[in-house]
Amino acid sequence: MTALPGEFAPPTRLLLGPGPSLVHPRVLAAMAAPLLGHLDPAFIAMMEEVKALLRLVFATENALTFPVSGTGSAGMEACIVNLVEPGDEVVVGVNGVFGTRMAEVIERAGASAVRVEAPWGRVVRAEQVQAALKNCRRPKLVALVHAETSTGAWQPLPDAARLAHEHGALFLADCVTSLGGVPVELDAWQVDAAYSGTQKCLSCPPGLAPVSFGPRALEVLRERKTKVRSWYLDVTLLQQYWGEERVYHHTAPISMNYALREALRLVAEEGLPARFARHRKNHEALAAGLAALGLTLAAEEGHRLPMLNAVTVPDGVDEARVRGRLLTEHGIEIGGGLGPMKGRVWRIGLMGESSRRAHVLTLLAALEDALCAEGRRVTAGVSLAAAQTAYTA
Ligand SMILES: Cc1ncc(COP(=O)(O)O)c(C=O)c1O
Repeated sequence: MTALPGEFAPPTRLLLGPGPSLVHPRVLAAMAAPLLGHLDPAFIAMMEEVKALLRLVFATENALTFPVSGTGSAGMEACIVNLVEPGDEVVVGVNGVFGTRMAEVIERAGASAVRVEAPWGRVVRAEQVQAALKNCRRPKLVALVHAETSTGAWQPLPDAARLAHEHGALFLADCVTSLGGVPVELDAWQVDAAYSGTQKCLSCPPGLAPVSFGPRALEVLRERKTKVRSWYLDVTLLQQYWGEERVYHHTAPISMNYALREALRLVAEEGLPARFARHRKNHEALAAGLAALGLTLAAEEGHRLPMLNAVTVPDGVDEARVRGRLLTEHGIEIGGGLGPMKGRVWRIGLMGESSRRAHVLTLLAALEDALCAEGRRVTAGVSLAAAQTAYTA
């Protein structure tokens, strides 16, 4: 290194992509608080508050509800490696990047992944889950992604959970993008295990993965014949730190736990119903604005997520160039497509703090500008008018 780099000063960005979302200043301030040791009684008391707040957002009484150290993928691995053993059969919904990732993790854990596929943008049907379960010898687990961030599809869970139980299997839900943005009701829906991430609708920086294990999952854990293949993510060991024993396992990311606590406090202050309504309203206004520009959403009608809007890129428009313009000329980040949707969609996230009326209107105005620059004919303000009408409806 020839010269010491200066202090890092990130440019101002309006984060309207698939995550991370904007973070409330109170959460950033919480991260700047002095460190405590991971076994300090004050930190331990705080851990209990984080667990209680997580139970609130997951709508569960599950005692084993806590944040795994790591991002959403760590939560995914934690659930899978603890619940499956080599040779197990797992029915997994695959209709986007994250179902595909689950299948990959299931196979790495030595289990066989029975893939139930749906075209990207569509949801997996309960009948498909049922047919797959019927073809299994002894299915151990059914796993579905509640909010498929790569496509914007909103997967219904309760019927699949019921079918899993009818076949003696557990039910696992990926709630990375859904938690805090749409209802997630682990107990009412009989979800046995779930994981999430902090950087989506909880509006906290990435770095923790809230997980929850219910009584049936704990029984499966107790009855394992083989050791969990990951030491770091072994929930039985983690439980000794997050439960009453307080045995050191690994050094908890202290500041991230402060941040999560504050982010969850903000969620609880707003109230879940109001938060879900806010996400829905902003989505409706965005969708109205996009429609006025002749743009359509890629996910199946009736199953569109409010916090993740995959927008089909019109013919003749350069997907990456528009995204580049939004970033460099307007300071707005949106996402591009992944896998088969690469180059074909923009992904607009309205998650947590990012889901605000002002942001919807700012984005629509910038998009009008960027589409004009692409040579599209746009009547100035048309999308803003449509969004405003949607807000007053
Ligand atoms: C639905 C879903 N599952 C899992 C993940 C993985 O989370 P992370 O990127 O935080 O590891 C993501 C991330 O976008 C996601 O959207």
